[in-house]
Amino acid sequence: MSTEEAVLQTYTADCVQTAEERSAVFALRMLVFVEEQRVPIEEELDAYDITATHFLIRKAPAPENTENGVVGTARLIDKGHGTGKIGRVAIHIEHRGVGAGAKLMLYIEEFARLEGYTELLLEAQTYAIGFYEKLGYVAEGDIFMDCDIPHRLMRYRLE
Ligand SMILES: CC(C)(COP(=O)(O)OP(=O)(O)OC[C@H]1O[C@@H](n2cnc3c(N)ncnc32)[C@H](O)[C@@H]1OP(=O)(O)O)[C@@H](O)C(=O)NCCC(=O)NCCS
Repeated sequence: MSTEEAVLQTYTADCVQTAEERSAVFALRMLVFVEEQRVPIEEELDAYDITATHFLIRKAPAPENTENGVVGTARLIDKGHGTGKIGRVAIHIEHRGVGAGAKLMLYIEEFARLEGYTELLLEAQTYAIGFYEKLGYVAEGDIFMDCDIPHRLMRYRLE
């Protein structure tokens, strides 16, 4: 096993199941989107958070500056007719570039297949399009602004 593979094995993706995990992923989103990317705090949490399935990726042993090792998160919203929308994909700045984001996305993809979804959508920040393209997502339509950040719609068919 390469060093990179060994490092990636210390990261485990899962569904958020407890109140503590929910609080940890919301805290991480605050750190990444509100503090780092300057998204207005009132736009970060929204009504979809009540019904969405939330995911996390944690590192073991837990790094000191994390809540129970949680270093990444994302959510999945059921849009009906087999379509799921992934959002709020965030990896702690100190844990980027080791494959944690991709591992989390692949876990969500597998979850979505098992739940019977046939396609996944997301609104990618344009700087991150390459990350999603490597996972098979295809960009479509024009660039649009959300919270002053340029985005593009991306789609991935699960069939
Ligand atoms: C975008 C983000 C989730 C990527 O997570 P990550 O854990 O650093 O990504 P990984 O290490 O799993 O990268 C997987 C692959 O994608 C590539 N990649 C990662 N970020 C990329 C980017 N911005 N552009 C192009 N490729 C990228 C990596 O080089 C790697 O390629 P490889 O398989 O050839 O080695 C992370 O940078 C992040 O949380 N950013 C802040 C929040 C954010 O902007 N979220 C996205 C909102 S749409």
